[in-house]
Amino acid sequence: MRFRQDGGGEATARAVGVFADEVEDAPEGLGPYLTSRGFKAEAGSTVVVPEGEDRTLVVVGLGPRDEVSDATLRRAGAAVAGAASRHRVVTTSLLADAGVESAPGAQALAEGLVLGTYRFGAYKSDDEPNQIEEVVVAGDGEVAAALARGDRVARAVADARDLVSEPGGTLTPPVLAERAEALAGDAGLRTEVLDKAGIEAAGLGGLLGVNRGSAQEPRFIRLEHAPEGATAHVVLVGKGITFDAGGLSIKTAEGMEGMKGDMGGGAAVIAALSAVPDLVPGVRVTGLVPATDNMLGPDATRPGDVLRIADGQTVEVLNTDAEGRLILADALALARREEPDAIVDLATLTGACMVALGFRIAGLMSNDDALAARVEEAAGRAGERVWRLPLPPDYRKQLESPVADMKNIGSRYGGAITAGLFLQSFVGEGVPWAHLDIAGPAWLDEADGENPKGPTGFGVRTLIELLGSYA
Ligand code: BES
Ligand code: MN
Ligand code: ZN
Repeated sequence: MRFRQDGGGEATARAVGVFADEVEDAPEGLGPYLTSRGFKAEAGSTVVVPEGEDRTLVVVGLGPRDEVSDATLRRAGAAVAGAASRHRVVTTSLLADAGVESAPGAQALAEGLVLGTYRFGAYKSDDEPNQIEEVVVAGDGEVAAALARGDRVARAVADARDLVSEPGGTLTPPVLAERAEALAGDAGLRTEVLDKAGIEAAGLGGLLGVNRGSAQEPRFIRLEHAPEGATAHVVLVGKGITFDAGGLSIKTAEGMEGMKGDMGGGAAVIAALSAVPDLVPGVRVTGLVPATDNMLGPDATRPGDVLRIADGQTVEVLNTDAEGRLILADALALARREEPDAIVDLATLTGACMVALGFRIAGLMSNDDALAARVEEAAGRAGERVWRLPLPPDYRKQLESPVADMKNIGSRYGGAITAGLFLQSFVGEGVPWAHLDIAGPAWLDEADGENPKGPTGFGVRTLIELLGSYA
């Protein structure tokens, strides 16, 4: 999608915004018509008004005037993309109508417009891609730059969605690594991919243990942007389970349905990193994505087996479906060795986090209040919701094992927290670390604003904002 600041005579669709409670006084004498249609101007709702031959006016609800925010514009942008999907050129006064002519507002509008056009059509015989190519938004140079930024961020989110959408049978760990290398290559990142022999040499016993039931080789993906004179170094870690059958502690058929999406954290890390050179060039960023599927082949890890993680700690695997933490343990142990300014991991880690916070909110856990606040602020700017959960040291007892340094599951309740405490064992002290459990928001059962049904690319926007805070 291209953004332009002036002209637009060829636009066949025009989008305007109206606040709730102001529908009757809508501009251009539309008030009575909109009212008769029952239009309440809820944020992101639309009415399409035909304007003569193949010209359309899209009226977008902005919600109450005193609640308008960047998130309103993101939602409105996505609504326009949907309602004007058959038009090649669209012109809109939404920024002015919403009274949010700031750079963040323009960026959010662009994100919404681009994300609203997203679809995964790779396997659709009758794919009908969105037709919008150009959007005309009045504004100065600052607005133009913000729109371009929003476009770049949204493309990264789309990259993550594409990876998550790809089925587990085609997006195997080696294919995920190739796709990561392709994205990283375009962006000019340094990449290194360990194959099974490399993973053995590095002693990544968690990743090897999860991979043991699989016919597919594992991969350990490392991406890096290391500019001269970097202001900070942040290591991002993403769970890359390309399909989670649960292993011998097998899931139900229903429980497996969305499990091609169990690499949503890894996808967010790969996609965010590939946008770093464009958007946050001054920060050193390393991305680590351990990748395997979690299958139940004849030599699969058995409940009771003991694995040795890269830092030498041992884990008794009592439930093979708690596999994410095993591969993340290796990655966090490697991340810690780099002595970065911060480690942030993203993982579709626990059903328990979905029970606690639902589909719209990710769980945030951290050993460092300043980093937790930084992540909360970044997520707020990005329009992604997170909520901090505690890491109470006394809960750690639940992970004690009679045979190994720890076991991989706690008791029945508080499962998001025991998973977080497990990960914390491999980060240790000294390095600020934050963990985002994105099991809920990585995948939606119904479309919501800029997010379609299915993979959302959750985390990409927060990561880019977070890295920006180190620039
Ligand atoms: N990938 C799942 C978590 C998950 C569930 C993500 C649903 C998205 C939607 C993870 O590997 C898992 O299976 N976790 C177990 C842990 C349990 C065995 C301690 C879970 O949450 O049930
Ligand atoms: Mn699992
Ligand atoms: Zn999993």
